[in-house]
Amino acid sequence: MPDVPTVTELVDRLLAGPDPADIVQAGHPVLRRPALRYDGQLDDAVLADLLALMRRTMHAAPGVGLAAPQIGIPLAIAVLEDPGARDSEVADLRERPALPYRVLVNPRYAPVDDERATFYEGCLSVRGWQAVVARHRRVHLTGQDETGRELDEVVSGWPARIVQHETDHLLGTLYVDRAEMRSLVTDDGIGAALASEPTPATAARVLGFDAG
Ligand code: NI
Repeated sequence: MPDVPTVTELVDRLLAGPDPADIVQAGHPVLRRPALRYDGQLDDAVLADLLALMRRTMHAAPGVGLAAPQIGIPLAIAVLEDPGARDSEVADLRERPALPYRVLVNPRYAPVDDERATFYEGCLSVRGWQAVVARHRRVHLTGQDETGRELDEVVSGWPARIVQHETDHLLGTLYVDRAEMRSLVTDDGIGAALASEPTPATAARVLGFDAG
């Protein structure tokens, strides 16, 4: 049997490969296994190179979050960055301000209360589709940042959606596992038009689901 590569070997190979990195798609088992807790397995310089590559790959996609398993690295690390919604009505309704670049290491989240926010979202590893997900509107985020500093904060609105989506990736969960599947649309034509509405009210009416 061939030797299974270690995490450091995987990262070395990735850093020697395409830039931006290739994003693995649904069906790759790495997206379905819980990521390994990050516990200093990488040298500081290698971690910095990995994070920079993740950020470039997220920008190039373009996306607003990227988890390490999405580029084939089974470590509990994710990068987030969102310029925010351009349209101010959309920004208000979706509570989507700009989210500055940040790194989550070994993140966990817990709902603060019962409130949900119901909007379309997509995933760079489920290319070409979007669906409605009712996410916790506010979550308590714990874990670390890339320097090892402990995180303990409440995140709300769209940033809370991104935190939940990326943390789920690190647990082997994809957004489609939590989506209202009657809302599923392709990323072009009528589907793109429905998903870009400020709220999913029209999609709920014409596709036949409850937008909450
Ligand atoms: Ni995703």
